[in-house]
Amino acid sequence: MRVLVVGNGAREDALSWRLAASPSCEAVFASPGNAGTASRGENWNIPATNGKALSSRCQQEAIDLVVLGPETAIAAGVGDRLRDAGIATFGPDRSAGRLESSKIFAKRFMERHEIPTARAVIVHSLIGGLKALDEWSGACVIKADGLASGKGVVVAAGVDEAREVLREWYGSNRIPGGGADVLLEEKLEGRELSVFAIGDGRALYPFASACDYKRAGDGDTGPNTGGMGAYSPPHGFPDDLDEQVRTRIIAPALRGLLTEGERYIGVLYCGLMWTPSGPYVIEFNARFGDPETQVLMPRVNGDFAAFLKSVADGALDPAAASLSDRACVGVVLATADYPASSTPPADLPSEIPVGQDVLGQSAHVFRGSSGGRVLTVTALADDLASAHSKAYEAVDEIMERFGSEAGLKFRRDIATV
Ligand code: AMP
Ligand code: GLY
Repeated sequence: MRVLVVGNGAREDALSWRLAASPSCEAVFASPGNAGTASRGENWNIPATNGKALSSRCQQEAIDLVVLGPETAIAAGVGDRLRDAGIATFGPDRSAGRLESSKIFAKRFMERHEIPTARAVIVHSLIGGLKALDEWSGACVIKADGLASGKGVVVAAGVDEAREVLREWYGSNRIPGGGADVLLEEKLEGRELSVFAIGDGRALYPFASACDYKRAGDGDTGPNTGGMGAYSPPHGFPDDLDEQVRTRIIAPALRGLLTEGERYIGVLYCGLMWTPSGPYVIEFNARFGDPETQVLMPRVNGDFAAFLKSVADGALDPAAASLSDRACVGVVLATADYPASSTPPADLPSEIPVGQDVLGQSAHVFRGSSGGRVLTVTALADDLASAHSKAYEAVDEIMERFGSEAGLKFRRDIATV
């Protein structure tokens, strides 16, 4: 099989790595890709959102399977375009992708199908928002409707702070993501968990879960980021986690998709808050998580390319791939100015090792985008504590060799809190 991975982050490097190691995969390409994906196949110089150009290049290159990495590709309708051209694609079409690209669409979907989620009010203007806040008490989560690369959510401690956010967003006409609508949401308390279900258009199958660390600093301090580290499988959740997620979240989501005529092909990423009364959905995403994918791929056994192809063809083959019980920890190394901006460091690209150059087989370095989250260092081991120490040994080695020049920063507490 000839496979194309769309995107350029460490998530795509991890997908490309696992696909390339699949018995049925003969060649793996990436577009636009990064230094990691370039180490195992050609990178195409086509942006992830250009469905037309991707589709014609896929036809020229006889691509058998396309895996969509980022939400921008899904929201741009790249999945629709590729499927229209008869190319097997893992990743939903634009319509089903609204579960991620519109937080209001997702909230209404959850309300229609009785999926547990935070109570929310939808507002369309500053005046409407301030009025809703007059009746609010306590913390308030303010969310811009559209895709905003992690910058569209503010958790405000109280009503005054929430008013400030609305004034800034509406006053300066700078609502993250560029839309006009905003959700005001009750704050959920608990532990966060990312659950990945896979849809083949007929059903949704729970696939894997991971814990992601969203805040920039140790001890969950500092601004929200795309994710500074992750581990899998999750630790410290109830024994019946899978069953609760299946019955409360995945089953009603599937019923909802089917009754609304959506053929969901790809990953449904359920961002959950585990509250004292069970799991609630914080958000849906229509793709694999980053950095969660970097800790899931090392756990995958079997023929991952055949597995994703079966999904894209509309009949998931559960025998094609499985997840090992081993633990994987991933630490993100980011540029010093992340998440405020993502300036590429001058001297990184050629020097940082790719793949398993660090600590032999026990750690794996995935390359990210050129600025921002530039590397994810992962380690797989029999238990979480060993995976954690191996991952940090590899991080320390990289920092010693390259870190101070490159100005990279990372969290010290991934998989310990
Ligand atoms: P989102 O982009 O919707 O995942 O939000 C980004 C982050 O904001 C989440 O990972 C949570 O840490 C936090 N967040 C969003 N919504 C809520 C909520 N209703 N209650 C508590 N935290 C939230
Ligand atoms: N790690 C969070 C995300 O991929 O959205």
